Amino acid sequence: MFGINRRKKAAAEVTVLPQHLAIIMDGNGRWATNRALPRTAGHKAGSETFVKTVDACNRLGIKVLTVYAFSTENWGRAEDEVAGIMKIMHAYIVKYVPKLMEQNIRLRILGDMSYFDEESRKALTDSEKKLENNSGMTLCVALSYGGRNEIKQAVNALIAEGVKEVTVDMLSQHMYTAGLPDPDLVIRTGGEKRISNFLLWQSAYAEYYFSDTLWPDFDEDCLRAAIAEFGGRKRRFGKEK
Ligand code: FPP
Repeated sequence: MFGINRRKKAAAEVTVLPQHLAIIMDGNGRWATNRALPRTAGHKAGSETFVKTVDACNRLGIKVLTVYAFSTENWGRAEDEVAGIMKIMHAYIVKYVPKLMEQNIRLRILGDMSYFDEESRKALTDSEKKLENNSGMTLCVALSYGGRNEIKQAVNALIAEGVKEVTVDMLSQHMYTAGLPDPDLVIRTGGEKRISNFLLWQSAYAEYYFSDTLWPDFDEDCLRAAIAEFGGRKRRFGKEK
């Protein structure tokens, strides 16, 4: 009798695509610890998964992909881990620009840039500018990002403009994601089931998908399985049953 190679099983069928897919890439540290490697090795492996995911989402035809790369809370991690992550971010957000250009991808950095020095801020905005005329997928990298802070800065911006009464639209237009559709699917890898201050305002009607797979192991089959499950969900937006 012939055995079945389970790894060659057909990938889940993707029928309905989210317009805006957001991902909490969790589990790099545990991936490294499981292999007795330093945590930075997990982030390096995670960045390879990030590259493959960007490519897969672009091929699938997703319009907006947002990844949670570094939270405002992550600044509190050990200095050498933060330095390691920043080195990786620089490599992928600055040096990776030609590759993103080839793929016709736009880039947006979402987050509180005041944590970065002048030179880093310029490097980030230069990368965004180089890619702003592309017409393919928009890749948003949430970097030094916190959802509550984002809402706070939007309210403060409106106060500074002299607005007396805010509307939902006005707030949306003052979020880092202004002009982009809200995420309709948020994936979190790494087994935890929480949203960790990610896209709090924008995810009001998002579907959540939690995967036990650690981020470096989250391959295209895992991504397709998440999108396929999303495609089978009935989205009601609080309306009909
Ligand atoms: C979560 O793992 C990941 C991070 C805190 C950030 C770093 C993400 C990457 C390097 C992926 C690549 C992204 C880009 C934009 C190049 P964790 O350290 O919280 O894992 P743990 O929960 O297992 O400790």
